[in-house]
Amino acid sequence: MSGRETGEFPRTRLRRMRRDEFSRRLMREHTLSVDNLIYPLFVVEGRAQRIPVESMPGIERVSIDELQREAEELAALGIPALALFPVTPAEAKSADGQEAWNPEGLAQRAVRAVKQAVPKLGVITDVALDPYTTHGQDGVLDASGYVLNDLTVSALVKQALSHAEAGADIVAPSDMMDGRIGAIREAMEIAGYANTRILAYSAKYASSFYGPFRDAVGSAGNLGCGGKHSYQMDPANSDEALREVALDLQEGADMVMIKPGLPYLDIVRRVKDTFGAPTFVYQVSGEYAMLAAAIRNGWLDERSTVLESLLSIRRAGADGVLTYFAKRAAGWLKSSS
Ligand code: PBG
Repeated sequence: MSGRETGEFPRTRLRRMRRDEFSRRLMREHTLSVDNLIYPLFVVEGRAQRIPVESMPGIERVSIDELQREAEELAALGIPALALFPVTPAEAKSADGQEAWNPEGLAQRAVRAVKQAVPKLGVITDVALDPYTTHGQDGVLDASGYVLNDLTVSALVKQALSHAEAGADIVAPSDMMDGRIGAIREAMEIAGYANTRILAYSAKYASSFYGPFRDAVGSAGNLGCGGKHSYQMDPANSDEALREVALDLQEGADMVMIKPGLPYLDIVRRVKDTFGAPTFVYQVSGEYAMLAAAIRNGWLDERSTVLESLLSIRRAGADGVLTYFAKRAAGWLKSSS
């Protein structure tokens, strides 16, 4: 007996359900599974290459032979798909980025190698010109340095077709040009790639969190302080993200993406609630770097922090997450089930 009068105690005690693991499990609203993970990989020329990315501890750029080993590892972990990011040698870069649609380019060879090694693994390619341009912008420039929209879209169509032809399952335009999803969709239908899916980087923000990625693929170039603000979205905007997603879905996108992740979870929630479409989040290089740095210093616990960050992205409404932590997370999820 507590010896207390009626009304002196809380009738509803939310802590009751939290007391034991079994009841915590019974009322758990969201889950994270290996099905939700996509692993981004940087690919370099050469053989037997594994070159660490300094600003992304634990992440390496790998040559195509090593990429095949990575693909086998991902399949063994149960990860459904990988996303390829080629590191273009300086001599292959140009002002117009035409290496992007070279059928024998690094990206195209990488796609074929992965599909040959592990046919069931989904292969996603990045459609944008920045790894191939000397100036590091995602498109073709006019004399003033402005990225020309429609000329760039024509280049992106060629790039996307070359990826589809190489066997990419999903092409993912990350360039933020207007009208590129519709143009790519139409060209792929006409060329016989009706089943090649499009994952649109719909709400891609002009974020400072892409710094380590640009180190990894060497695309920082001489990006001036103008950066990519004339095509990537202003971090101050939220309604505009819904307009971008609406257009990409109308134009034929199968999946949409919000990028970066943790700083933009409000956008993820709005997009999922508004459209109910397959929605993905890119937990980008800078988010990885922040967590990895604190983990390396012993300031954060790796497993619990990484899983919490990924679960938060799921809770916000994402169906899946592109994350550099995918392999580690898959390993933990496997061992805990
Ligand atoms: C290329 C592209 C970028 C990222 C993915 N595709 C960089 C950029 O837009 O500058 C960033 C991914 C990351 O930071 O992990 N358009």
